[in-house]
Amino acid sequence: MRLTREESEMLDGKYGYPIQKSMEILVTLGELYGAEKMIPAVSAHSTGQFSAIREAGVQFLEELADKGGKFVIFVDTNPIGIDLDTPKDFGVSDEFIQRQMAVINALAKMGAFISSTCAPYLIGHVPLWREHVAWNESSAVNFINSVFGARANREGGPSSIAAALTGRVPECGYHLDQNRYGDLEITVTAQLKGVHDYGALGHFAGNLSLSKTHVPVFVGIPPSVSLDDFKNIGGAAQAGDVQLYHVVGITPEAPTEAAAFGGKKVKDWQTVEFGQRELQEAKESLSPATAREVDVVAFGCPHCSIREIREIARLISGKKVKSGVQLLIITARATAAYARATGDLDVIEASGGRIMCDTCLFSKCQELLKNSNSGIVATNQSKLASIFSGLGSRRDILTHYGSVEECVEAATTGKWR
Ligand code: F3S
Repeated sequence: MRLTREESEMLDGKYGYPIQKSMEILVTLGELYGAEKMIPAVSAHSTGQFSAIREAGVQFLEELADKGGKFVIFVDTNPIGIDLDTPKDFGVSDEFIQRQMAVINALAKMGAFISSTCAPYLIGHVPLWREHVAWNESSAVNFINSVFGARANREGGPSSIAAALTGRVPECGYHLDQNRYGDLEITVTAQLKGVHDYGALGHFAGNLSLSKTHVPVFVGIPPSVSLDDFKNIGGAAQAGDVQLYHVVGITPEAPTEAAAFGGKKVKDWQTVEFGQRELQEAKESLSPATAREVDVVAFGCPHCSIREIREIARLISGKKVKSGVQLLIITARATAAYARATGDLDVIEASGGRIMCDTCLFSKCQELLKNSNSGIVATNQSKLASIFSGLGSRRDILTHYGSVEECVEAATTGKWR
């Protein structure tokens, strides 16, 4: 790789161990992926979950922090293993809490903003068009690449930290124009009637990318598509490592089909249809549970938006969550404060629902279902359903996948319709 004089000095240790170590990581990765140079990164999003990075990760972060590492760009964090207000809930051990706090403390010492959310773009961490960033949450990476036109690869834990300490990322992958063009057209003829249908579309796109990663181009999505719909497309599509997609006429790099494909000829890309049959099949594959009993109804994977919380509050207002069923919503702390101020959280809590912050819906569902009857989660969140029942490996927990209305009804009756 060609390094600037300053970058070479970083690598030689002139600016201390944390920057030297970081540049070593970035150069190694850059050479592996064929980068010719480094480029400035404007922000990073770091993993923060102890169960993801384990003891070796804690030692890595603590060493960098203790040796004076300071982040030089804005850095926030992905969900952690606990809600900071109620860390012991669901039987979390003191030892786990202590190690989780060690991760947070090391990141904070280096200057991270401890936001603990997988949807940081909902609470103000919004990279702009063509800005290069170093983020490590898969669903967030495809959201900001696709919806904002920012430039990101799905970073690992060490590389996002290294970028944060140096302000650099290797110029490779989706940082380069030539890798951002579509190579798979998905013509949407199905009628999409809610975030769960958009999630099924993302699941379909993710499945098509299992053997070869694609940049899908969706044609036929109506202008009414919402931010929550995008969140749910990407939530499932990331399972096939889709880090970027385009929606013709809507997302910034796809004003036209020709622009989305970068001037390629039609014969150069594959075209598939997503019609009513494909929609139905995708929803069925996210919904393998057969028993009607439901133990947990879960929202917030990625973390819920204020609009999703308001919709749940509207649907559950005046009703009660069925005894023995858990209605769990996870959102960013900032969004929860907003929903508290608007009264929506009070409505949900009065019905028996529970809102958590800081933590991961996938992890908490597993903890909740340890002693459950049926091991069944109802959700409209495509990433959660795809991890448990679709592309993922957790087949001991089954899902019912459907609309927010069906999910809220399941919470109040204890049965899937
Ligand atoms: Fe967020 Fe955990 Fe889902 S990090 S996207 S709630 S798997």
